[in-house]
Amino acid sequence: MSMFEPTRPRFGGGVAAGAVRIFDTTLRDGEQAPGAGLTAAEKLEVARQLVRLRVDVIEAGFPSASPGDFEAVRRIAQETRGGIAVAALARCRDGDPQRAVEAISVAERPHLHLFIATSDIHLAHKLRMTREQALDEAVRWVGWARKTLGRDAEIEFSAEDASRTEMDYLLDVYEAVTEAGASTLNIPDTVGYAIPSEFGRIVSAVHDRVGDAATISVHCHNDLGLATANTLAAVQAGARQVEVTINGLGERAGNASLEEVVMALRTRPAQFPDLAASVATDQITAASRLVSYLTGFAVQPNKAIVGANAFSHESGIHQDGVLKNPLTYEIMTPQSVGLAGSTLSIGKLSGRRGLQGKLRELGYEVEGEQLDAVYRAAIQLADTKKDVTDADLIALVEQKKADVPRSIELLGWSISSSSGGHSVGSASLVVAGEAKAGDATGNGPVNALFKAVDAAILPVLGWNPVLTEYEIKAVSGDGDAQGQVLLRARRSSDEGHNALIVTGHGLSTNIIEASLEAYLVAANKLHGAEINGIEVAFVGRRTVEEVP
Ligand code: KIV
Ligand code: ZN
Repeated sequence: MSMFEPTRPRFGGGVAAGAVRIFDTTLRDGEQAPGAGLTAAEKLEVARQLVRLRVDVIEAGFPSASPGDFEAVRRIAQETRGGIAVAALARCRDGDPQRAVEAISVAERPHLHLFIATSDIHLAHKLRMTREQALDEAVRWVGWARKTLGRDAEIEFSAEDASRTEMDYLLDVYEAVTEAGASTLNIPDTVGYAIPSEFGRIVSAVHDRVGDAATISVHCHNDLGLATANTLAAVQAGARQVEVTINGLGERAGNASLEEVVMALRTRPAQFPDLAASVATDQITAASRLVSYLTGFAVQPNKAIVGANAFSHESGIHQDGVLKNPLTYEIMTPQSVGLAGSTLSIGKLSGRRGLQGKLRELGYEVEGEQLDAVYRAAIQLADTKKDVTDADLIALVEQKKADVPRSIELLGWSISSSSGGHSVGSASLVVAGEAKAGDATGNGPVNALFKAVDAAILPVLGWNPVLTEYEIKAVSGDGDAQGQVLLRARRSSDEGHNALIVTGHGLSTNIIEASLEAYLVAANKLHGAEINGIEVAFVGRRTVEEVP
């Protein structure tokens, strides 16, 4: 029997009646997806889109993971205003909570997220702690945080692997941390093990134990494809915060996807009486495209809400029905998720204003220098390509948004290639202020030019980029289409599991130019990480457990 009989939230801001708080963890759990590592500047770009999307909380990162992630969280905390909270993750272990508090101290609404594992399997094999020790650590650090941050700050506690934790112990932990000052109790289905009815019962049990003393949150992984279903069952059982990511990005099979959870709440209100999320759903498509582009994780065509086929109707019967009345086969409108029908077209004589309006219609808010850069690129493209399509414009905006500071510049290149023979390439560059040239042969023009770039970079930096992935696709279906290159690379001096891997993007109607641009972007990111250690947020290549 509980000694603790709460009647109202004691700490933090709580969640308004009728609201479901949207806690976006794309920049923390999402970024833990292997290979999804973002630079600090890219994280900021995503955070700005999350602000436009009007999520309630942005979990910006895990400051103890690396100086890069600390800096990214701090910059997001500094910039994010308008009532949106910025959260940072910390283990219940000396050093972590202090670092997280330091990173979010500049936020308008700081939100500290503490966690410790509670399942027997994690306690025995990972933490090597007893249940009592884990409970003591949880209470100690939640108490410390409450004392440090004061009454009004949001302090969230997660019992990692909650869904595989013995129930009485789990409830004791949640009750104890609530008494110690936690204002949000997060129930993670860390390994995506729960099924909806079972998960709803866990949420109800926690709710019965702590009442309104804390907001109940859920964090569902998708290992059995049930993350969204579990999250919705949890809301029906009393959860008022949901932890989600754009495109369902995240560790392994990912997290519950923001767009699915939010659109389910909105499309089926009768199933969630008097509850709503205040997200600007018409920003969903732009958010999805940006995250997919920056992380290099393509969205599957049949993905709910944001997949390329989510609103397209192939069969004659469906097309006929949709033409007569879209409600026959569409349960939500494409406009409600920001997929507007195109009305403006862009040509050589279009002005900046027209372009800005068009981009807004496509879900992108672009202004100032970025607008100038996209404008120049669009006009240049209109010179070389008959039709500048929506897909071309989206690719241009994304390319400009993802630009990186450059210490390695390509001045020029040439290639000689013939059928059946080797290709011979040369490239001239400025590398960290030094003019350098390189020549090389390769099994094709791209390979020869990458090697020529390597020959110029290696003597100055002591390493060259090594490709771990390379892919090229046409932006649109026309014969004069732009080629878009996505590659991943590491430094030749870094080996093995802990090597930093970055993405590089290139875009051009000339696929050699597009490939070289992508290679240079990756080289600059790798160099940026080396010289200041803060440009790249390293958490993307490490799981939470691997961080020392
Ligand atoms: O999946 C998980 O358990 C987590 C916690 C850190 C909340 O990501
Ligand atoms: Zn997680």
